[in-house]
Formats: sequence, structure tokens, C-alpha cells
Amino acid sequence: MKGNAIAALALAAGALLAAQCSAPRRGQDSAAALAAWDVVYRVLEHPRCANCHPAGDVPLQGDDMHAHAQNVRRGPDGHGLYGMSCDACHLTTNLAGAHFPPGAPGWRLPTPRMPLVFVGRSSRELCEQLKDPARNGGKSPEQVFEHVAHDPLVMWGWDPGEGRAPVSTSHADVVRALRTWIDAGCGCP
Ligand code: HEC
Ligand code: HEC
Repeated sequence: MKGNAIAALALAAGALLAAQCSAPRRGQDSAAALAAWDVVYRVLEHPRCANCHPAGDVPLQGDDMHAHAQNVRRGPDGHGLYGMSCDACHLTTNLAGAHFPPGAPGWRLPTPRMPLVFVGRSSRELCEQLKDPARNGGKSPEQVFEHVAHDPLVMWGWDPGEGRAPVSTSHADVVRALRTWIDAGCGCP
């Protein structure tokens, strides 16, 4: 019994620690963390990513990041308003042809309760936000890493459909930069 309780405590402490940025690993310094963060920040602010991470309730479109046509809104759960849900137009893959709706599995905005705003955030603000579980959707640094490494909405940024420029940094480079930033202790500018 006692052993179990201690094991449970140790597990809970482990979970707490995992939710935080760790001390820099040996050989990593804060300059490396900041340089790596800069790479990540530029990707997060790229229109292919930031168009789904707007400050208001309207998704954005194009490289000029204009408000989504058809009066599309975030809606109560990020999937749009009743009758104008994202998946009425956006499928799980891109539709061929310029100006046809792009698509990926789970196409939606973040929820109004956890809006994950990237647009208009300074490098420092977005850095602090991304490592704060209260503002990043309850994610540990490793879970943020997994998301950026594998999530289909993230991957879409490098396969955005006809007429749209992919994110300018390669996916491998941003994954590497995120790894460096986390391993070096997630320092912010
Ligand atoms: C179609 C809309 C859409 C696009 C495009 C999109 N995202 Fe997101 N993003 C979301 C949604 C929705 C969530 C919330 C996911 C969740 O909580 O499960 C999210 C969450 C995130 C998070 C929050 C942390 C986390 O681990 O959940 C990060 C980081 C992120 N996206 C990065 C990106 C990057 C980088 C790109 C571009 C390469 C991108 N997103 C493109 C909709 C999008
Ligand atoms: C009535 C159909 C329709 C609905 C509903 C709709 N969209 Fe779109 N969306 C489009 C079309 C069409 C495009 C492509 C416009 C273009 O390329 O000129 C588009 C483009 C986008 C883009 C731009 C991608 C980029 O980087 O340029 C985002 C982001 C987006 N939609 C998000 C959403 C989200 C999130 C929802 C639900 C809240 C939604 N859309 C609902 C039709 C729709």
C-alpha cells in the first residue's frame, strides 16, 4: 500500500516535471535556445500556420492574411458556425485547382476557450505562451514537439495545395529547431 502511494507520488512528480521545460542539457546554451526559437517563431507566424491561429474569430486566407470569405467564424468548438462548418467545404485532402478549399483531417480553428493566438504576438509573447500549459492547451514541451512533428494540420503547411506557398523553412529544420529549443531549456527572448 505504502509502496503504491510512494510510486503514485513519484509518478505525479514526474508528470509535473515533464510539463515544464528542463534545465539545459549539457552542451546546450541559451544562445542556442534563442537562435532555435527564432526559427520556430518564423514558422508559427508564416501565413500557412498563422491563418488558423488568428486573434479574432475569423480564419484568415492567403499570404496577405485577409479575413476568410463567406463570413466564416470560429464557432463554439472551432469547427465553425451551424450551417457553415469548416468540413462543409474543407475535406481531409486538398481539392485540385487554384482557390479550391485546401484540406487535411480535422480542419478547424482552435476553440474559443483555448484560441492559441499566433497573429500579432511578438517573439517573446509567443515563446512564453507556447511553454505555458495554461495557454498552449495543457501541453508539455514534449507534447508540443509531437504536435509540430506529426499533426496533420501542421504537416499541411508543407503541402498546402495549388496556388499556395508552403512554409518557407523545411519541416525537418523546424523540428530540429524545436528539439534544440526544448533541450536547451526553452529560453525566451
Ligand atoms: C486548419 C487550421 C490549422 C492550421 C493550418 C495549423 N494549425 Fe496549428 N492548431 C490548429 C488547431 C485546431 C489546434 C489545436 C489542436 C488541439 O488542441 O488538439 C492547433 C494547435 C497548434 C499548436 C499548439 C500546441 C499544441 O501542441 O497543440 C501549435 C504549436 C501549432 N498548432 C502549430 C502549427 C504550425 C507550426 C502550423 C503550420 C505549419 C499550424 N499549426 C497550422 C489549427 C491549425
Ligand atoms: C463555404 C465554404 C467554406 C467554409 C464553410 C470554410 N471555408 Fe475555409 N476556405 C474556403 C475556400 C474556397 C478557401 C480557398 C480560398 C482561396 O484559395 O482563394 C478557403 C481557405 C481557407 C484557409 C486559407 C489557407 C491559406 O493559408 O491560405 C483557411 C485557414 C481556412 N479556409 C480555414 C477555415 C476554417 C477554420 C473554417 C471553419 C471555421 C473554414 N475555413 C470554413 C471555403 C470555406
